[in-house]
Amino acid sequence: MNQDEMKLAVAREALRYVVDDAWLGVGTGSTANFFIDELAKVKWRIKGAVASSVKTAERLKAHGIDVEELNNVQDIPVYIDGADEVTPQGAMIKGGGGALTREKIVAAVARRFVCIADQSKKVQRLGKFPVPVEVIPMARSYVARELVLLGGYPEWRMGFTTDNGNVILDVSDLTIEDPVAMEDRIRSIVGVVTVGLFARRRADVILLGTSDRVDTIVVGPRARIVE
Ligand code: A5P
Repeated sequence: MNQDEMKLAVAREALRYVVDDAWLGVGTGSTANFFIDELAKVKWRIKGAVASSVKTAERLKAHGIDVEELNNVQDIPVYIDGADEVTPQGAMIKGGGGALTREKIVAAVARRFVCIADQSKKVQRLGKFPVPVEVIPMARSYVARELVLLGGYPEWRMGFTTDNGNVILDVSDLTIEDPVAMEDRIRSIVGVVTVGLFARRRADVILLGTSDRVDTIVVGPRARIVE
C-alpha cells in the first residue's frame, strides 16, 4: 500500500470504533479527511459529529453529516484523529494542521481516542517533528524566548492564523525524554494556549497502516471495539 492507501485502510478500520446513535468526535488533517469520507457512507449510524476545526466541520457538512457545538454535547464516546508522531505508548505530537487546541478539547471530552496514522508516524521517541505551540499573538516573542531556554528552536508559522485567532510556533530540536513533563512545562508558559504534545491525554488505541495491513496497538483500557 502507498501512503494514501494506508490512510484509507486505517480510516475504514476506524469505522469499527464508531458508536451507534452517539456523538462522534472527528479530527483534522489528511487522514481524518479519509475517515470523514468513509463515515459519510454510514452517516445514519451516528447522532452527529463534533468537529475539531472549521475545515473538518465544513467537510462533514458537505457530506450531509450533522455537526453539533461541543457545548451542546455531554458525551462523546469516541474521538478519531490523526497524528504527526505517535509512540507505542500513545503519546503524540499533533497540530501539523494547526488545529491542536480544538483537537485537545474534543479529545479531553471523549472517552476513547482512536489514533489513525500510516506507519511513517510511529516513533519510539517524540520530537523529530517540530512541536506546534498555539500562542496568543502579543505573547509570541516572549513565548519564543522561553522555548529557546527549554532547548528548542521556535519558528513562527508565518501567514497562519488558527481557528481561535492565534499564531503557531513550530518548535524543533526539543529533547523530549519525558513527554508529560515537557507538555506541562510548555503549557505553563504565560501566553501559550496549547502545546501539541498529547502525553497526558494519549491515544487509547492506535490504528497503524503498514505496507500490507492495519496494525492495532492497544494502549489503554478503553481501546476495545464497541460492537
Ligand atoms: C491537525 O492539526 C493535526 O493534529 C493532524 O491530526 C496531524 O497533523 C495529522 O495530519 P495528517 O493526517 O494530515 O498527517
